[in-house]
Amino acid sequence: MPERFPTARVDLEDLTVSQGAPVLLRRALAKLAAGELLEVCGDSPDLSEELGAWCRKEGHRYLGEAARKNVYRIECGAGPAPTMASGRQPSEVADPRWGLAPRGARIEAGAPEFAFTLRRKREVWARELDSIHKQAAANQWSATRDIPWESLPKLPAELEVAVCQMMTFLTENEFAALYVPARFIPRIHPHYREVVEVLAVQVADEARHAEAFTRRAEAGGCGLGTSAVSSQLSLQTLLEEPDFTTATFLLCVMGEGTFLTLLKFLEDHAPESVTATLANLARRDEARHVAFGMEHLRYVLEREPERRASLAAAVERRSRMLASISGLSPYVYDALTVLAGGGILPRQIRDGARRVAALHRNMDRSRRERLQSLRFDAEEARALSAYHTKNFM
Ligand SMILES: [Fe+2]
Ligand SMILES: [Fe+2]
Repeated sequence: MPERFPTARVDLEDLTVSQGAPVLLRRALAKLAAGELLEVCGDSPDLSEELGAWCRKEGHRYLGEAARKNVYRIECGAGPAPTMASGRQPSEVADPRWGLAPRGARIEAGAPEFAFTLRRKREVWARELDSIHKQAAANQWSATRDIPWESLPKLPAELEVAVCQMMTFLTENEFAALYVPARFIPRIHPHYREVVEVLAVQVADEARHAEAFTRRAEAGGCGLGTSAVSSQLSLQTLLEEPDFTTATFLLCVMGEGTFLTLLKFLEDHAPESVTATLANLARRDEARHVAFGMEHLRYVLEREPERRASLAAAVERRSRMLASISGLSPYVYDALTVLAGGGILPRQIRDGARRVAALHRNMDRSRRERLQSLRFDAEEARALSAYHTKNFM
């Protein structure tokens, strides 16, 4: 039998297996093909025994001591389990066997399969994810640090009550906007990590909004107002939507889109700077949530234009489920009217009511614009905007 020459050599000096010798052994063996020889030098007294046990465990063949003292030989085995690559760019379909491995990593075969149900790019992807995430990271604010709480004045009771009622309504909507993306995050394959990251920040934004609005209601001494059945029913239908794209359409395009107009109205008519600042900061976040929704819908509709019909059907279905709700909750309507009029004198109420009517028209107009920019035709956009829940979200 011809003599076999080692392909590579590693010097362990006096390093033992328990002191980290496998790090150097694995590096050396990784460069060898199966069947090639590694020569190992080392003068730790038990090295021969240790190498034998280690080779059995790692799938290599230990050939024992060579002709020279303190020199050993290992025949490289088939090595660790084969790996697969998920690629650096997002694939159209993510393999359940990629599991939680980051995209671009080598993944050992044999890992368990994960039950991520959203594992097709067209089900979750959006354009502009990087820029939406960068903006989100750069614009995080704190309900403690960034709000001028110390400047909160004592308001006339009717204005304070109106502010607190709006804070109550906003907070319940924030919870809905938090739970919808939170429900979908664990279903999205981590291969599409940019989507998960954007939604995770969205969840954090909504938690901050809920905290800040509740805090404003409590800060004025009057506390939270009333939560209406109509609002809760409307939000429940949003929470129960099982399809990601439909839920994103209802929440981010229709609901949060409508809230952009509402928050601007509150900022313009806030009786003090704390409420105005809160409305402004929340609106900035909501604009990003709407941008994600629009970009996701654009991505989906470019590939499946026929989905417009199912989205329209979802809005109509929700409207039928909410047929018992005749309009905006009277608590919210009254609060908006008092805030917009600046008080409860009849002339102030007349002004306030006129401004609230204009608010509804502005909401409808911006919903129709958004729908038309998603290539719904003008008539479809008009009908869908009219079907949208009377409770704004
Ligand atoms: Fe929010
Ligand atoms: Fe939001």
